[in-house]
Amino acid sequence: MMAASSPRVMSVSSGKGGVGKTFVTVNMAAHAARQGQRVLLIDADLGLANVDVMLGLHASGNMQDLLHGKAILEDLIVSTEHGFDVLPGGNGLYELTNLSPDDQQVILDNLRDIGHNYDLILIDTAAGIGENVLYFASASEDALVVLTPDPTSLTDAYALIKVLSQQRDVRRFMVAVNQTGDIDGQITFRRLLSVTDRYLDVYLDYLGNIPRHTAVRQAIQNQRLIDASDDGRLVAQMQHVFDTAMNRPRNDARSGGLQFFWEHSLTASLNAVAGA
Ligand SMILES: Nc1ncnc2c1ncn2[C@@H]1O[C@H](COP(=O)(O)OP(=O)(O)O)[C@@H](O)[C@H]1O
Ligand SMILES: [Mg+2]
Repeated sequence: MMAASSPRVMSVSSGKGGVGKTFVTVNMAAHAARQGQRVLLIDADLGLANVDVMLGLHASGNMQDLLHGKAILEDLIVSTEHGFDVLPGGNGLYELTNLSPDDQQVILDNLRDIGHNYDLILIDTAAGIGENVLYFASASEDALVVLTPDPTSLTDAYALIKVLSQQRDVRRFMVAVNQTGDIDGQITFRRLLSVTDRYLDVYLDYLGNIPRHTAVRQAIQNQRLIDASDDGRLVAQMQHVFDTAMNRPRNDARSGGLQFFWEHSLTASLNAVAGA
């Protein structure tokens, strides 16, 4: 039904904060851009180490400007030297789920319009399982969950998958294990799989692991991305995870990407009318 040109929309979530979600999202955006994809990274996180900080960007406006007709969404988007665009955090998008249905509709209509300019839209969501996270993850075509071997990260990733599957009917998850080697990555994935297989009706798709490396902290501190000059193993593993995600077939059951945003907000509006 959807045109093949509709952007692929992938949310990146984790349950627990500090696992490397933003690091992964930003570098995946750069990787896809290098391959010629037109990429928009939406920062839907208000966290401290957010996309703006990692890339040294400054938001040029916010959703209030948009809602008051003082700006269009294009005005809020920042082009980066890495070849992809960013809708920075601090723009009010994080508040989307707290806005009135009318205001939501304005923003979502705008998002849907600009979506046609892109092949891939990555959404860096906040930590936790708040309404905002659930909204973006369930409105996306693909839901990527990042975790580390840390037991609390595993528990929080499980909680996120549980809520998304039971409350939002998300059944398919891509999984990447960050800050660890191949074997611990496998072990961590199998641990997660053993509980989801037992208690939930979901399908987990393991993309692979990204090693813990001092270059990551250094790169973040210097507001640069991982590139070919970095440790070969780190670069290769990151590329493997990103390529595996990109090469997965489109999720037909959920494709349409931003169409989902539109449908969701329309449903919300109808509910609001019905409840009035
Ligand atoms: N593969 C890695 N190797 C080493 N350190 C990492 C790695 N991934 C993330 N980190 C560290 O974790 C910190 C948090 O990463 P960040 O992407 O901001 O997490 P999140 O977005 O999940 O809160 C980074 O500042 C970095 O120091
Ligand atoms: Mg983050």
